[in-house]
Amino acid sequence: MSRIVVLISGNGSNLQALIDNVASGDLGVEIAAVVSNKADAFGLTRAVEAGIPTEVLSLEEVISDGGNRDGFDIELAGLVAAYEPDLIVLAGWMLILSESFLNRFPDKVINLHPAMPGAFPGTRAIERAHAAFHRGEIKRTGVMVHKVIPEVDAGPVVTMEPVPIFNGESVDELEERVHLVEHNLIVAAVDLLLAQP
Ligand code: GRF
Repeated sequence: MSRIVVLISGNGSNLQALIDNVASGDLGVEIAAVVSNKADAFGLTRAVEAGIPTEVLSLEEVISDGGNRDGFDIELAGLVAAYEPDLIVLAGWMLILSESFLNRFPDKVINLHPAMPGAFPGTRAIERAHAAFHRGEIKRTGVMVHKVIPEVDAGPVVTMEPVPIFNGESVDELEERVHLVEHNLIVAAVDLLLAQP
């Protein structure tokens, strides 16, 4: 069975979607490990409850130990490689990965971004889409899963889905609908790339 390693930084609701679909048998992969750059990420609790090995590598600690950003990426790559993943899934991973990491896993790293290709790269994408809607600049936002390249939230699209924005809707309401789409799309992307028929 194909193996995935999931990288997270926080809540891990997308990780939970993967865990649930693996548990139900709908997604035929093994989650070999969950890696977080934050020791207090709630996603780590989700992983432990599902019996998945976890790892924490803190950028702040690497730096305070005299390391640098590149050293962090190299150490992270070694840690992930030990689990022999067929695919690495960035699901709410909030650090940009350099070529020091990516070159070790060519074509094997995917990222989830709550916007359409080319739109709102970086953080707070849903909030920025909501504001752009109210300025009359866009009518919809979306979600995409893409192969990771050094450029932030860019790279070949694996799958995407538009999400309409409704008049009078709050950021929180839009965010909730976007997250539901994310939870389906991340599972669909892993299935598309890896799962056996
Ligand atoms: C998601 O919106 C993801 O697209 C973004 O960060 C959020 C993480 O949510 N990059 P969660 O940690 O999976 O709940």
